[in-house]
Amino acid sequence: MTSQTEHVIRWKSDSLKRVPYVVYSDLDQAQLEQERIFQGPTWNFLCHELDLKESGSYRATFVGETPVIVVRDSDSEIYAFENRCAHKGALIALDKAGRVDSFQCVYHAWSYNRQGDLIGVAFENGVNGQGGMGPGFCKEDHGPRKLRVATYCGLVFGSFSDDVPSIEDYLGPEICARIERVLSRPIEIIGRFTQVIPNNWKLYIENVKDSYHASLLHVFFTTFKLNRLSQKGGVITSDSGAHHVSYSMIDDHSADDSYRAQALRSDNDDYRLNDPSLLEGFKEFDDGITLQILSVFPGFVLAQIHNTLNFRPVLSRGTTSTALEWTYFGYVNDTPEQRRIRLKQLNLIGPAGYISMEDGAVGGFVQRGVAGAADFESVVEMGGEETKSGEGRATEAAVRGFWKTYREYMGQ
Ligand SMILES: [Fe+2]
Repeated sequence: MTSQTEHVIRWKSDSLKRVPYVVYSDLDQAQLEQERIFQGPTWNFLCHELDLKESGSYRATFVGETPVIVVRDSDSEIYAFENRCAHKGALIALDKAGRVDSFQCVYHAWSYNRQGDLIGVAFENGVNGQGGMGPGFCKEDHGPRKLRVATYCGLVFGSFSDDVPSIEDYLGPEICARIERVLSRPIEIIGRFTQVIPNNWKLYIENVKDSYHASLLHVFFTTFKLNRLSQKGGVITSDSGAHHVSYSMIDDHSADDSYRAQALRSDNDDYRLNDPSLLEGFKEFDDGITLQILSVFPGFVLAQIHNTLNFRPVLSRGTTSTALEWTYFGYVNDTPEQRRIRLKQLNLIGPAGYISMEDGAVGGFVQRGVAGAADFESVVEMGGEETKSGEGRATEAAVRGFWKTYREYMGQ
């Protein structure tokens, strides 16, 4: 086995302004991330409580690369455990979601209760007095690893670590307040997509935390003035730098020449919508904020873009593949007209969204661009070298915050 300390990534300095490209493809680094981040003291999004409405309702998801099951038991509590049979390691649950009294592995029919305890081994005592498990075998000694579970505003998080702080302390007051802003009202799930993108998971996280790119990469944002850096807004980073919120508000009076002066591809007045009703919306937050993108370390995103509300875990699938599990929601008290508008606006955000489709491609452009440049580094110094919050969004402060936390967890 390769010694992980021998192959640890060499960062050229302590500065957060440079990130070595090798971090997006190195296999040893990816292995170490599983151990130190995903199975370390982090809270990882598992599902929403609405996915676990009844006793026995479960969802199968992942913490890092590790498959896990999250399930509600008859005591109304939520439990989470590895989706890995203690016998040969096969998946215990094959479906993404369902409702069960207990779980049974299809391979050799070992059974588990809804708290992840091994409760049955087929032919444990053999057949006709022959075979069976050895005399020292005890079911209590075997079972998938269990996770700690915490919920916040209906979001269910899991952790493999006993050293992780409470979910409220982990998120911090500013992030908690911004989650509550969107999720303190009862919600209904109105759609889901799974999108697989051709790049390392960290490239997508950087993209989410990078408010600088949004109106440059996304023609739709800029053309239809839904999000411009000249609009009022800001970036909030948690004290640790781990989590972030960027926000902006549409301001009809903010039209200025700052974009024209940069001669941007994304600023193209020739584009028109045949059906402008796509942009019709309604005001639902008193603070006037029309866009709020929030991330929780290591891989959770909650976003409000106009009347499109969604959350999505960012799930690593090997070093150069990532799955995004998009879940869209509305509020229980939406009027039929509001719900119609929300569903229409889903065309903006998602795998083929008019706004967000470029995010599914640009990480792959980076992955392909850096393929032969492991020793080179990206430049992350828009807005200086700090990770602190501030007014204005022409900054990569939240991206540096991610790398600050990442390097702390990785011991690098
Ligand atoms: Fe984007």
